[in-house]
Amino acid sequence: MVVILAAGLGTRMKSARAKVLHQAGGKTLIEHVVDTALRLTSPERILVVVGHQAEAVREKVAGRGVRFAWQAEQKGTGHALLCARNQLEPFGDPLLVLYGDCPLISEPTLRRLLDAQAEAAAAGTVLTTVLADPSGYGRILRAPDGGVAAIVEHKAAGPEQLAIREINSGIYCFRPEPFWRALDRVRPHPASGEYYLTDVIEQLRAAGEGVAALMTPDSGEVLGINNRIELAAVDRLLRERKVRELMAEGVTIEKPETATVDADVQVGMDSVLEPFVQLRGRTVVGSNCRIGAASILDDTVVEQDAEILPFCVVASATIGAGSRIGPFTRIRPGTVIAEGAHVGNFVELKNTRLGKRSKANHLAYLGDAEIGAGVNIGAGTITCNFDGEKKHRTTIADRAFVGSNSTLVAPLELGEDCYIGAGSVVTHAVPPEALAVGRSRQVNKEGWRRKRRAPNVADALPHS
Ligand code: UD1
Ligand code: CA
Repeated sequence: MVVILAAGLGTRMKSARAKVLHQAGGKTLIEHVVDTALRLTSPERILVVVGHQAEAVREKVAGRGVRFAWQAEQKGTGHALLCARNQLEPFGDPLLVLYGDCPLISEPTLRRLLDAQAEAAAAGTVLTTVLADPSGYGRILRAPDGGVAAIVEHKAAGPEQLAIREINSGIYCFRPEPFWRALDRVRPHPASGEYYLTDVIEQLRAAGEGVAALMTPDSGEVLGINNRIELAAVDRLLRERKVRELMAEGVTIEKPETATVDADVQVGMDSVLEPFVQLRGRTVVGSNCRIGAASILDDTVVEQDAEILPFCVVASATIGAGSRIGPFTRIRPGTVIAEGAHVGNFVELKNTRLGKRSKANHLAYLGDAEIGAGVNIGAGTITCNFDGEKKHRTTIADRAFVGSNSTLVAPLELGEDCYIGAGSVVTHAVPPEALAVGRSRQVNKEGWRRKRRAPNVADALPHS
């Protein structure tokens, strides 16, 4: 059984939001820890202890099918385990404890810890590591038998103990029976009134039980997050890890140190990410695509061979195979760009479908529109989709040609192969193959300039 402690406030974050709901690598801390636990066991065997902002924390991970325990008052890590006891006991051996603010821990390291505990005679095994700067962490006091004698919290440590660089990761594996007996004997700390889970070690020792240590050389994995500086450091590590994974899978990343790729993003082989690209949320990029410099894609699907030129902002959209977007295109939620379509600079699309091989190459707003195949949208075309109260749809059938600077007042339908004269304000449906001209006819007034100038001084002078 795995228990994840996630009930704490996270005072040192100085935030209105619970610490485990802060994001690193594009996912909340609690999601990282739960997802790692799910690689070890089934969701019914994972218990998350919630308390501070319990509903919000629960909502983040409930979809994964894990269980929850409730710690009404946050009286320390030991107290959190006491609150989870009834739900943990039926599951028996072993009990793996994880902290919700330690998101980098990997599955292989946890498996090593479980194996070490299974092989040891000890009642528990503590995952430790050596840090150059151990500030803030609990220090490991070793016993003569090589195991752990006690863990002393930074705040309670004397000068000699502060010099110890081996720290408690907050990840442990216990044999349940001796563990619960020892936890029952843990008393609250006089200063803070908190029950420290770390005090269990001393209690186990006092009861004659052994406690082993597994020291991991990969100290980066056990970094805990208590403040925003540590959050940024962990975010960077997660992003480096993700970018290396993608490169190993055949993605070219130019200046990888500038890429921001969230944990759940997928990118296909032979795709290229130019510098400063951000791929966020559940974005999926197919194979052989190019994502231009400084483009930001959120929850977006990019199909194979598509090209996004620099400086595009795309959210919750689908970019079809072989299409070309940008530079400077904004694509808002609900938009689908079909195969081979082109969208150019300063074009904004919202909740719009642009059909196969259609083009909107410059300066347009297309909102709530259904646009067929082979359509040409001229520069400056605007769908007027909002009447001040409601949004209306614009339908443009295959091969329509919309001249530059057209104003399409929705609701509106343009028929197949129709043609809209440049500068038209179109308010009525246009039948297939028709030409619509919705502007006043041009008038030329002969000699107008000369007549207008007549009262001028120059004109009043006698001709020489
Ligand atoms: C803890 C350890 C410390 C270790 C460090 C590793 C204790 C007493 N100390 O210190 O030895 O080096 O982690 O990162 O355990 N939580 C609850 N309920 C509570 C209090 C905390 O669920 O009442 C949860 C928090 O949400 C958090 C985790 O437990 O996810 C750790 O709590 P935190 O206060 O950050 O412990 P540290 O002071 O970092
Ligand atoms: Ca912590």
